[in-house]
Amino acid sequence: MNDTNIAEKLEELKAKIESSLSVTDSSKALYELKNACLGRSGEISELMKGLRDLPKEERPQAGKTINALRDWAEEHFAEAEERIKQAELKARYASETIDVTLPGNRHKTGAYHPNTLIKRELISIFAGMGFTVFEGPEIENDYYNFTALNTPKDHPARDMQDTFYVTSDLLLRTQTSAGQIRVMEKQAPPIKILSPGKVYRSDDDATHSPMFSQMEGLVVDKGITLCDLKGMLDEFAAKIFGSGVKTRLRPSYFPFTEPSVEVDVSCFECGGKGCKLCKGTGWIEVLGAGMVNRRVLEGCGVDPDVYSGFAFGMGIERIAMLKYGINNMKMLFEGDTRFLRQFRMQ
Ligand code: PHE
Repeated sequence: MNDTNIAEKLEELKAKIESSLSVTDSSKALYELKNACLGRSGEISELMKGLRDLPKEERPQAGKTINALRDWAEEHFAEAEERIKQAELKARYASETIDVTLPGNRHKTGAYHPNTLIKRELISIFAGMGFTVFEGPEIENDYYNFTALNTPKDHPARDMQDTFYVTSDLLLRTQTSAGQIRVMEKQAPPIKILSPGKVYRSDDDATHSPMFSQMEGLVVDKGITLCDLKGMLDEFAAKIFGSGVKTRLRPSYFPFTEPSVEVDVSCFECGGKGCKLCKGTGWIEVLGAGMVNRRVLEGCGVDPDVYSGFAFGMGIERIAMLKYGINNMKMLFEGDTRFLRQFRMQ
């Protein structure tokens, strides 16, 4: 090897490095290339080692030229390193970008069943008047559901409701009125309770279901009159159906109340003029009520000469149907989400 030989080799190497660098585009490839060139046993080091084969006087010059190539190569590798680092960073940023303008994933929320909405609304209205909630059992015995409510076995009023019997004494309660007895047996007046719950009757058409829900109310104290009932009902009607809605009482019959009344509210749809909802009458029947029968009070150990009371009972589904304009009771039992969804945010 001599000077010209070295010069040629260096030119070749230089050209090779230049062309390799121009096509290298990853840090890994660059690292390998750099190692092959500038590493301990890389091509430049090999050239250095070859110096010892040169005549002594040529060595300094050749050494200088090789060192110059090393400087040149180092500089070029540094440039390439910087270029590739920037490019890789850019690619990484691009692949990791998050589009913050993308719409988020929607989470479907459930809705309260119309019955639940009405039940809660009723409880909140009556709780505002000082009522507390009592929940009785759904499987009752004959005594609480009928006998204690002044409806003994041979009483014709038993035919008013078709009862599901479990045994000759046990039955699925036909009315939440059974709860009146349970409360009066346990608690001395003053009493002011609200009793919501499911009731069962062998009845099935567009406005009746074998299972439905009622809301019972009972007030017992000294000096309670039908006027108190009427006043409370007016307040209730305005709150649930809208201010301006009035109530009227019509004579009726229930064995456990005397006198008994059916309660109508003025039609909240037409304001009383007469429409489809009120069937042209201007009034809608919403509940049954009355003054607690003396015999019922007596049976529970409450002195009817000292205390009097009123009771009322309404169908929760009926109130829901009226309030939300639902024309088929079955919709309240089918669990069709297309129907139930409409009550979201109510
Ligand atoms: N329990 C009666 C019914 O189911 C309603 C009612 C309750 C009537 C309380 C008067 C007093 O029809």
